[in-house]
Amino acid sequence: MRQALEDIFPAERVRTSPEDLGVWGVDWTRSFPVAPGAVVFPETVEEIVAVTRLANEAGFALVPSGGRTGLSGGAVASNGEVVVSFDRMNRVLDFNPVDRVVRCEAGVVTARLQEYAAERGLFYPVDFASSGSSQVGGNIATNAGGIKVIRYGLTRDWIAGLKVVTGAGEVLDCNNGLVKNATGYDLRHLFIGAEGTLGFVVEADIRLLEAPPPQRVMVLGVERISDMLDVLRSFQAAVTLSAFEFFSESALQHVLAHRDVPRPFASRAPYYALLEFDAAGEEAALETFEATVAAGWVGDGVVSRSDAQAQALWTLREGISESIAPRTPYKNDLSVRISDVPEFLDEIDRMVGEHYPDLEVCWYGHIGDGNLHLNILKPDDLSIDAFYERCHRISPALFEAVRARRGSISAEHGVGLLKRDFLPFSRSPAEIALMRSVKRVFDPNGVMNPGKLLADA
Ligand code: MLT
Ligand code: ZN
Repeated sequence: MRQALEDIFPAERVRTSPEDLGVWGVDWTRSFPVAPGAVVFPETVEEIVAVTRLANEAGFALVPSGGRTGLSGGAVASNGEVVVSFDRMNRVLDFNPVDRVVRCEAGVVTARLQEYAAERGLFYPVDFASSGSSQVGGNIATNAGGIKVIRYGLTRDWIAGLKVVTGAGEVLDCNNGLVKNATGYDLRHLFIGAEGTLGFVVEADIRLLEAPPPQRVMVLGVERISDMLDVLRSFQAAVTLSAFEFFSESALQHVLAHRDVPRPFASRAPYYALLEFDAAGEEAALETFEATVAAGWVGDGVVSRSDAQAQALWTLREGISESIAPRTPYKNDLSVRISDVPEFLDEIDRMVGEHYPDLEVCWYGHIGDGNLHLNILKPDDLSIDAFYERCHRISPALFEAVRARRGSISAEHGVGLLKRDFLPFSRSPAEIALMRSVKRVFDPNGVMNPGKLLADA
């Protein structure tokens, strides 16, 4: 295989050392075997076409690889696959100020795109804790969400065009940055969220928007999780929100132990809400704060007085994932309609108490989007296998509650390997059969990221 790959790539862009395989064959999950056959680093679309055609002829599988910050094993190579890294396809190709569309290669890091927009007085609104290393191709492959969805939507909403290489090695230009295009099936949207199972996203046209006005950040202590939505509704009526996030005291404690930031205020609360809103609404926000205290929903609160303080308050939320990572969390990424959140939260909270009375549970997430991250932390004296086995046994009960509300077992992290066997809790047999058919159309020989999202047929 190495020889055939070196017919396409210079030798230094084909790597097979155990160290390299260990680095590029894995994402942020740490629970799956890591065993790629090779890693290649294309620099052009032609090289991607060539390696895809070779995979079809020689019968090996390909795993697209971006910043490897995924949390569901979507970029893990466990079976001798060739990992195709986009690290060297990281150029911004074009920017049109009239269209406000930037054309990027798939390996551009999200934070670089945000900076590129800011340098032009514009804004790329998709943001999350891993934006310093995640790449736009991976964001598109998982339709990444993050912390500003409540105002700006998901990655899908900002993609005006895609160049893709299908699993059969065909190059497609989908939508070409157009605003309006009523010419039938929009194939661009099939590739967004496909987790690299249909082909490679190699370039993207991404819309930018005007920079937002100055923002304020507020953190509130909330007594009962069931009051969170009343707090959200009160602030939604008073200010223009850019974010409404929540986290539990246990999640906060992990951040305080790992990051150099203070508690938001002296008193403790079981839960916290973090809000970001246009600074023009500060007075209305303070009045709303008083009203939520009077209603008994909120105990204490703080509003940022400087950018540095705003950043420190954001760290309390954005630092959670990294701070709990050493505890090998079993990650649940659930969503229901926003109106169902209070009852759903109560039910899941009860179930967690029943099933995990002895385990530490960390709640946080994008509650304003109906998206809850439920992380079960591994006790130090339990092996990863035993811990995962136990969590997997409980998952069906949790996912049954999700199904009952027609919610999603993976709101934003993707299905990958971690949630693959649970897909039927969120997608019907008819849908899964159609998804398989779609995959066969774009990837007839099944070379693209096999075993992710859909179990091998
Ligand atoms: C987050 O919201 O912090 C991210 O989705 C990562 C995580 O859930 O750990
Ligand atoms: Zn999240």
